[in-house]
Amino acid sequence: MFRISVKNREVLDLEVDEDFSLKLQKWKQIINDRLFKVVDSQGPPILYEPIKYVLQGGGKRIRPILLILACRSVGGEVDSCLDAAVAVELLHNFTLVHDDIMDRDDTRRGRLTVHKKWDSDVALLTGDGLVALAYQALLRTKSPSIDEIATIFTNGIVELCEGQALDREFETRPDVALDEYLRMIEKKTASLLSITAKIGAIIGDGNEVEVESLGNFGKNLGRAFQIQDDLLDITADEDILGKTFGSDVMRRKQTYLLVYALNHAIAKTKDNLNFLLSRQAIRKSEIMEIRNLFDKLGSIKAAKEAVQNYIYAAQQNLVKIKEIRAKEDLRHFLNYISTRNA
Ligand code: IPE
Ligand code: IPE
Ligand code: MG
Ligand code: MG
Ligand code: MG
Repeated sequence: MFRISVKNREVLDLEVDEDFSLKLQKWKQIINDRLFKVVDSQGPPILYEPIKYVLQGGGKRIRPILLILACRSVGGEVDSCLDAAVAVELLHNFTLVHDDIMDRDDTRRGRLTVHKKWDSDVALLTGDGLVALAYQALLRTKSPSIDEIATIFTNGIVELCEGQALDREFETRPDVALDEYLRMIEKKTASLLSITAKIGAIIGDGNEVEVESLGNFGKNLGRAFQIQDDLLDITADEDILGKTFGSDVMRRKQTYLLVYALNHAIAKTKDNLNFLLSRQAIRKSEIMEIRNLFDKLGSIKAAKEAVQNYIYAAQQNLVKIKEIRAKEDLRHFLNYISTRNA
């Protein structure tokens, strides 16, 4: 039995479900098979080699799985939404390749990032190619609502870019408030999860209330997901995480942890934190020092609580969903996301 208590409230109460793990594996396989077909094209190799490298490098595939779950939860068929599922994964991979350039990261999914293995020109082109392939896949979807789906997809990309812009802008801002941080992660991360769930629900022919509920589910899940990603940056095992440990600290990112710390520390501690972050190159021992400071200031506890509160909110967004089994899968999915270590 798995229980999490947030402010004395029981949030999740689920058996660790063997069946659900098997379903996850099955969907992942179906998605990967489709995804790899997209890049059957042979040349030019300078475009397709890095694209294949990115797609074959692993990844949890949570966005296409969410799309499938959302579609099923309104009574839709898996087959009808697979092109859109592949599209959101292609789009996500584009964001990762360009994000790694912006964040100057050397590793992703346990391997060199594209701009490190090749160079930035190739990484930019790889990202561009992935967006175009994402649209190709999306537009293969057979749905009377394809115009609406394409509009939601496009608006999601615009929002994501705005979020990445805010993320970048905040690197040099000393005084980011928690609500500004939340707006930023809603755009850079939660928007994609929200449109993913919405598109799944539309393809499954969900009604307006269902589409809206699932969009909100995706948004709350996305908020939780990014705060947890911030936590994992300095609490995860680097080998399991597959990404550069402490990357956010090195880039002076306004993560949930830093924003909370700067908004709660007394002046002296704040100065100390700003001093530690102001160094040219931050060593691993200093990352650990900053992590200890976050811990002392209550940032880590607050971030974990925020994750669970958004997971709880996501769970509440499911009340209008009638398909009992698919709804159970969405709850298991929340459980899986909130207990991940990579
Ligand atoms: C990483 O996303 C980017 C964020 C939005 C935090 P994932 O953690 O889903 O990355 P993969 O696809 O599993 O590698
Ligand atoms: C990424 O946020 C959000 C995207 C739009 C890709 P992060 O920069 O925190 O993602 P990771 O930690 O590099 O995966
Ligand atoms: Mg990054
Ligand atoms: Mg980033
Ligand atoms: Mg991160």
